[in-house]
Amino acid sequence: MNNFEYCNPVRIVFGKGQIARLAELIPKDARILMTYGGGSIKSNGVYDQVIKALEGFDVAEFAGIEPNPQYSTLMKAVEIVKEKKINFLLSVGGGSTLDGTKFIAAAAEYEGNEPWDILEKGAPVKKAIPIGDVITLPATGSEMNCLAVISKKETKEKLAFGAPAVFPKFSIIDPEVTFSLPIRQVANGIADTFVHVVEQYVTHPQNAPLQDRQAEAILLALVDEAPKVFTDPKNYETRANLFWMATQALNGWLNVGVAQCWATHNIGHELTAQTGVDHGRSLALVLPGVWRSQRKEKGEKIAQLGRRVFGIVESDLDKAVDATIDATKNFFSSLGIIATRKEYGVTDEIVQAIANLIDSRGVKFGDLQNIDGAKIIEIMNLCD
Ligand code: NZQ
Ligand code: ZN
Repeated sequence: MNNFEYCNPVRIVFGKGQIARLAELIPKDARILMTYGGGSIKSNGVYDQVIKALEGFDVAEFAGIEPNPQYSTLMKAVEIVKEKKINFLLSVGGGSTLDGTKFIAAAAEYEGNEPWDILEKGAPVKKAIPIGDVITLPATGSEMNCLAVISKKETKEKLAFGAPAVFPKFSIIDPEVTFSLPIRQVANGIADTFVHVVEQYVTHPQNAPLQDRQAEAILLALVDEAPKVFTDPKNYETRANLFWMATQALNGWLNVGVAQCWATHNIGHELTAQTGVDHGRSLALVLPGVWRSQRKEKGEKIAQLGRRVFGIVESDLDKAVDATIDATKNFFSSLGIIATRKEYGVTDEIVQAIANLIDSRGVKFGDLQNIDGAKIIEIMNLCD
């Protein structure tokens, strides 16, 4: 096992009616900027619950953070933060709103001239405005990590940063707020959760049996629980279980001491930047291609996943790998996700442009850092 240090400071406040607890979680004298997205919180009653809980607090609002949050939008919020001397950010919405808020928090305290450097050049985030959140979509795990993914449509870029300074101080997870989610977003969130786990688990063998078993626990629970949300969408227990799985899938617990892959995400982010495909769907498209291309390196772990999670009994390694890829694709199909290049308009030109971009950045993806532009083309040619 590799050396590691682990600290997750996020206070999770989980359950029905917990939005009312906001007043005890935020300092009384805070000057708050409440950030949110395109209005789902107004139609499902979450906005009203937050406003009621914050009666007597000094609250300004910033609306309109879009899915795949845009740099230009977020920089408008940074101006408001500076102008109004905001000292607490409250994100109310999905992963995009929270990621955007993490960036606002970091950019508002950034000392350089161009906050985009945090994403493009890895400029260090030394300080950030404190953040709390009410998370409304089970998917990203952003509520319990210090990561954020930000897009710039002008240059078709979508880049991530991570810094301990942007860990939320608290995250309120009320599963009842997910009853209003469109089924498409429910499916995206389940696919995202699945892929978060396998990015940390389906690597080359690393002899980390506890991390493996923890990953398998989430996957087994997810595969069991996912169908129930489609047949019985008003079931609170199912909603609660799915949310907690999403949170656990990317709170840093599964990847301590092991090398992680993230190639599917890295390529998926580029596809979203180019075509606008939803994050979860981009992953469902790319994952089988990554596994087919990396079957030599990842074969043992792919087969382990198949045997332990999908109950595949095939003893031949190659056949077990194929059966696992099929089972994974069937799982995505069972969520109603059609994951083909044609469906998302992923042309050869787009794939070539992504390959060129990655080579020009001089980066390689994967737990073995062996995926360059040429490999990305191979991977995308192995996708359906
Ligand atoms: O904008 P509003 O009106 O709020 O509507 C949103 C949006 O249209 C809606 N929604 C959210 N909660 C709702 C709801 N509608 C009804 N009821 C609710 N309770 O759902 C739509 C999608 O929301 P979004 O926040 O974009 O989805 P998600 O949470 O899946 O976030 C996706 C973003 O997170 C990034 C992705 O790349 C993408 O930009 N990721 C962040 C990660 C992280 N911070 O660790 C890791 C992930 O791998 C991912 O890359
Ligand atoms: Zn993801």
